[in-house]
Amino acid sequence: MANYSSFLSFFVVLLCACNGVSASLSKTHYHSTCPQAFSVIKKTVVEAVKKEARMGASLLRLHFHDCFVNGCDASVLLDDVPGKINGEKTAPPNNMSLRGFDVVDTIKANVEKVCPGVVSCADILAVAARDSVVAVIGGPTWDVRVGRRDSTNASFDGAIANLPAPNSNISTLIEKFRNQKLTRVDLVALSGAHTIGQARCVLFRDRLYNDSDIDPSFKQSLEAGCPLSGNDNKDFPLDVATPTLFDNQYYKNLQQEKGLLHSDQVLLNSSITSHFVNRYTSSSTRFFRAFAKAMIKMGNVTPLTGKKGEIRVNCRKVNG
Ligand code: HEM
Repeated sequence: MANYSSFLSFFVVLLCACNGVSASLSKTHYHSTCPQAFSVIKKTVVEAVKKEARMGASLLRLHFHDCFVNGCDASVLLDDVPGKINGEKTAPPNNMSLRGFDVVDTIKANVEKVCPGVVSCADILAVAARDSVVAVIGGPTWDVRVGRRDSTNASFDGAIANLPAPNSNISTLIEKFRNQKLTRVDLVALSGAHTIGQARCVLFRDRLYNDSDIDPSFKQSLEAGCPLSGNDNKDFPLDVATPTLFDNQYYKNLQQEKGLLHSDQVLLNSSITSHFVNRYTSSSTRFFRAFAKAMIKMGNVTPLTGKKGEIRVNCRKVNG
């Protein structure tokens, strides 16, 4: 009997691992300790997105930048503490770029009011990312498993090493995703997040003036706002055609050589990934399905569970 049940649990763990579902996270983790957790997070996200539509994009990106550096452990939210924490917020891929920290503080404060010390900041990021996509017009939904705990440290160097840069070529993108156990399908599906949100001129200037696979009218429409020098921090929509809709227009843009970032356009130009771009161009249902599946996988990247880490009281600081 004992042998049979251990065989069964081994099988379940194996099945979960193959699906990208972490065996230690569950949908019911807060059922008895904080039944209001999901509704409080959702309400705060909906209010924030109503106030500023772009916030949906910013919260989605925060979860991605958390998970790619030491797993989904809210390390991205820790402020620098001289001599103790050399945090991720000030690392070049995040500095002056990540947004939404104040909204996360508000979500956390609202959750703390109903169940103090119970809900982790890492789970808040995972749930808020899903709620953000749902709050943007047209976005798909998925079940978020919870039970992640928060780190007691962060990694400035990890942010530089693990986060993909906008001038990355296809092999670098595939490698950075593979390092998180994410496939090339996940890479193409998750890049579809660029159907919403904005990017600064300084991050696509090289593409604008050096790449040949760029539509001439699209290039021309960007040149005045993003000249060869100046306007570095001016924002432009990542999806030129339907910037506020969560749809498969991002892939259609790539077909017309209207991807904003070099790292977007290379997905179509490489035979390793173009197949998936074509698939999501022709079917938003397939894009949504792949996106939801990949978000679940990304949310399960090496979470801290059990007795590891802590439940931070303030998402910006370690306890005590
Ligand atoms: C494939 C590699 C990726 C690269 C190279 C990349 C790069 C970038 C860059 C350079 C920006 C603009 C930042 C700025 O202007 O300061 C950006 C914005 C954004 N990224 Fe990505 N990204 C990638 C993948 C992802 C993934 C996997 C997601 C989420 C699942 C994501 C979600 C977003 C969103 C929503 C925005 C807009 C944020 C806002 O408007 O505040 N990105 N990305």
